[in-house]
Amino acid sequence: MVAWVDFDKLESYKKLSSMTKKVDLTEVMAGEEGAARVAEYCMPMSSGLVYNYAAKQVDGEVLAALGELAEEAQLSEKFAALYNGEVINTGEKRLVLHQLCRGQLGDAVVADGVDKRAFYAEQQKRIAEFAAKVHAGEIVNEAGEKFTTVVQIGIGGSDLGPRAIYIALENWARKNGSLKMEAKFISNVDPDDAAAVLNSVDVAHSVFVLVSKSGTTLETLTNESFVKNALEAAGLDASRHMIAVTSETSPLAKNSGYLAAFFMDDYIGGRYSSSSAVGGAVLSLAFGPDVFARFLEGAAAEDRNAANKDLMKNPAMLDALIGVYERNFLGYQSTAVLPYSQALSRFPAHLQQLDMESNGKSVNRFAEPISYKTGPVIFGEPGTNGQHSFYQLLHQGTDIVPIQFIGFRKSQLETDVVIQDSTSQQKLCANVAAQIMAFACGKKDENPNKNFEGGRPSSIIAGDQLTPEAVGALLAHFENKVMFQGFVWNINSFDQEGVQLGKVLAKKVLAHQTDGALKAYSDLLHI
Ligand code: F6P
Repeated sequence: MVAWVDFDKLESYKKLSSMTKKVDLTEVMAGEEGAARVAEYCMPMSSGLVYNYAAKQVDGEVLAALGELAEEAQLSEKFAALYNGEVINTGEKRLVLHQLCRGQLGDAVVADGVDKRAFYAEQQKRIAEFAAKVHAGEIVNEAGEKFTTVVQIGIGGSDLGPRAIYIALENWARKNGSLKMEAKFISNVDPDDAAAVLNSVDVAHSVFVLVSKSGTTLETLTNESFVKNALEAAGLDASRHMIAVTSETSPLAKNSGYLAAFFMDDYIGGRYSSSSAVGGAVLSLAFGPDVFARFLEGAAAEDRNAANKDLMKNPAMLDALIGVYERNFLGYQSTAVLPYSQALSRFPAHLQQLDMESNGKSVNRFAEPISYKTGPVIFGEPGTNGQHSFYQLLHQGTDIVPIQFIGFRKSQLETDVVIQDSTSQQKLCANVAAQIMAFACGKKDENPNKNFEGGRPSSIIAGDQLTPEAVGALLAHFENKVMFQGFVWNINSFDQEGVQLGKVLAKKVLAHQTDGALKAYSDLLHI
């Protein structure tokens, strides 16, 4: 039996609170001891990746205490309860099944009379067949011509993950001859978003993927109409240019005005939906179903790692626990995700939703208030761009911001140049190595303005190259990390009530049912 207990009621919470000695990175990362740590504090992941946590403020004692926490909080048992189909999303009384889109970790999960693994696999197969027909010119536009572009319309989880993955693999696919269709994304209700995308594509040769799990999201429905107007203005039949991805219970599912419809369900949260039909449709159209299947394999491999009961063989669980240690016992408020890979430029934005919408909670999974800190603020940009922007604060600011670096030995395009005796890729990798050490060890200077205190923790996920499998592994790693942290904090990482109030007030503004300051702001903006 799993026991869902508040974090501060656990013995390991008390033990970790009483551990006053903090690991001094300026000491342990210096000299040969530092070199030994880099070799030792390194855990293999799947898809050629490793999770290296040498520059985190942990040692044998802290790791042992985190191991006790993992046991006492029953993290493996809770994950097993999740993948075996228990109602983990207590707020919405739902199962949490996104892992089933990429594999079967435990028992068959039957819900609403349906084997859910079979259901998700069937949707993936239907998408693969549809994409193959589009690529083969069997599904064409009204003039009998091939579609060349796919445009996703969706927001939040129906945009961020699929967009980040598309950007992550676009150049890889171009180089490997698997870029079948260019993809674009419309998300914001700002009319300039849809207008700019529509201006940049040839609508007659574009297929639009309308993605909304609920089928009720204002931004997405508005943008659907925006696109339909544009198609009609071009003399085109919108229903021959649009497909839908939604849940079978949503209003969209009953609409016949689409070329095809593909389904996910209420057991897949928006921010966890990239490996369902939500990511499957656009990514299979863009890269072909085989590349999407490779991405799913990478995610499945990392799910298997997350199911390992041994903390020291479970990178997502260890990453989660180190994050908890930093948040609750070292008092750090934010985490920066810094990929040294231009292809991962939108990955931090996806992680912002994944982490902050999941773990930005002040009540436990039974809606009772809690009195300890939960999810950190997440932000990030690709290196080296971030170095010339906000790293000043990371190096010398008054707050310590833990960092998650991501880096690869090889570039995706492998087109490079030698300037001043090194390639650009070598310069990129040199920078990430340098930053880890600069943050950890700092540099003493008599001039306080030039002094670097050091003691600033980071980890790195390092790999050979950003392949479809590696992208899948990264996605699943962070999904599982966020889930494990939610388990430790005893919160529900799978609902998002905090987004509702703003939606309600916006509707009032649009209906002109306002008074007081809300009316004043409405007037200020001429609504
Ligand atoms: O408003 C937040 C949210 O519900 C997210 O959780 C979700 O990813 C997004 O809106 C989009 O929802 P849908 O896919 O139902 O349109």
